[in-house]
Parts: sequence; C-alpha cells; structure tokens
Amino acid sequence: MKVTLKIKRYNPETDKEPYFREYPLEVQPTDRVLDALMYIKDFVDGTLALRRSCAHGVCGSDAMVIDGQERLACKTLIRDVAKEEAAVITVEPLKHLPLLRDLMVDQGQFFERYRAVKPFFISDEALEEGERLQSPEDRHLFDDPTKCILCAACYSACPILDGKNPRFVGPAAIVQGARFVFDSRDRGFEERLSVLDHPDGVWACENHFECTRVCPRGIKVTKNINLTKRKISQLRQERGEEEHKA
Ligand code: SF4
Ligand code: FES
Repeated sequence: MKVTLKIKRYNPETDKEPYFREYPLEVQPTDRVLDALMYIKDFVDGTLALRRSCAHGVCGSDAMVIDGQERLACKTLIRDVAKEEAAVITVEPLKHLPLLRDLMVDQGQFFERYRAVKPFFISDEALEEGERLQSPEDRHLFDDPTKCILCAACYSACPILDGKNPRFVGPAAIVQGARFVFDSRDRGFEERLSVLDHPDGVWACENHFECTRVCPRGIKVTKNINLTKRKISQLRQERGEEEHKA
C-alpha cells in the first residue's frame, strides 16, 4: 500500500523552528513504523535522526508521537495507524522534553526525576545467610511496575506536564518508586517521601489516565500512582498527621 510519513524535522544548526517533511512510501500493512523510518534513513534521507535499539519493544528508546499518540515505533504496525490507501501518518518527537534534533529529545530531565525517587532496593537489615525471601503474594504486589521500560511515553502524554505543573516528577518515576514502595523487603519508603509526598510528587496527579492509555507495556500507571497516594495517606494517619489536600 502507499502511505506518506509526515515527519517533524529540526536541525538546530540550520532551522529556526521545527517543520514537517513528507516522505511517500510503498509499504506492507504489516511493516512496523520503525521499518518505514529506517527505510527512509537508509535509502531516502540519511539526515533523519531518531533513536532505536532493540526493535522489539524492550529497550524503550523509540517512543515517539505517531498519528497523534505516544507509541513505540517498533511495536506500531502501519495498519494500526493507516486505515486506508494513501493515508498520511504523522511522526513527531515526544513532548515535555527539549528537542535535540528531528525525533530525538533530551531525556536528561526524565532520568533526573527517575533517579530522584531512589529506584533501587533499600534495606539496612542484616542478612545472616541466603536470600531475602518473599511470598508469591507479596511478589505479585509490585509485578505491574516491574514491566516499565522507561520509554517516557507517559511523561509525554501527561496533561499535568503541559503547563499546570512542569515540575511534576512524572508518571514513570512514580511507577519506578512503586516497584520498591510495595516490595515487602524494602525499607526505603521514608527516604522516598521527600519526592513522592510533595506537591510535585504524587499529589500533582489529577487522574487524567493518559499515562495508562499510552503505556506500551500495559502498566496501570494511574492505579500505581493512586496506590502510592493511599500508602502515604495511611502513614500520615498512623502518625496522626494531617491528610494531604490534593
Ligand atoms: S510507565 Fe509505561 S509509558 Fe511510562 S515509561 Fe514506563 S513503560 Fe513507558
Ligand atoms: S527499539 Fe527498543 S523498544 Fe523499540
């Protein structure tokens, strides 16, 4: 089938503003958008800049806005976004992160916020021998957040970061925090509160569910944010502290 990829282009050395350039292509409906982008890069226009690595939905490096929605280019088939012959498919970089070039954004701020929640196991409890065992039920409590591949699709789709609160730590950082907050062996909850229990932390979320809608790993992102809110509220209640007024 014939389609046109309408790609947002920007070269900071030569362009004042980003602009769209159209690339007509002959493709199969079962080709992936990443295949089409790589065809353009390899055979039509070698100046096109994009990130990709695994090409199998694992590394999270090729998240972009395809046909108006955040998706992984390697997991999006042409037929998912081109419903008829001669369809035009728009391809744009992620939002809420500085544009470097074409489809590449500067992910620095995203990973800074990710690191702020201390996304690693914390416990000073001595281990006499063996491993830190956990029941299958307790392991299941944080199964969902372990699927996150840090693609930043949710960060781009979040309407809170649109202007209401650009300091919001973002959905992915909270999901990565939840990975450890709900791990029965972890003791780092208190250390993470300065970031999570904060107006720019979980309380900035207004349940728009855009993060959950776009997550390519099917993670219940908003649910994880709300479970974290509930755990913080429980701790405040136990301590006789005031409830957060979101
Ligand atoms: S929560 Fe989903 S959308 Fe957000 S970074 Fe992780 S995998 Fe990507
Ligand atoms: S290239 Fe790795 S997730 Fe798409």
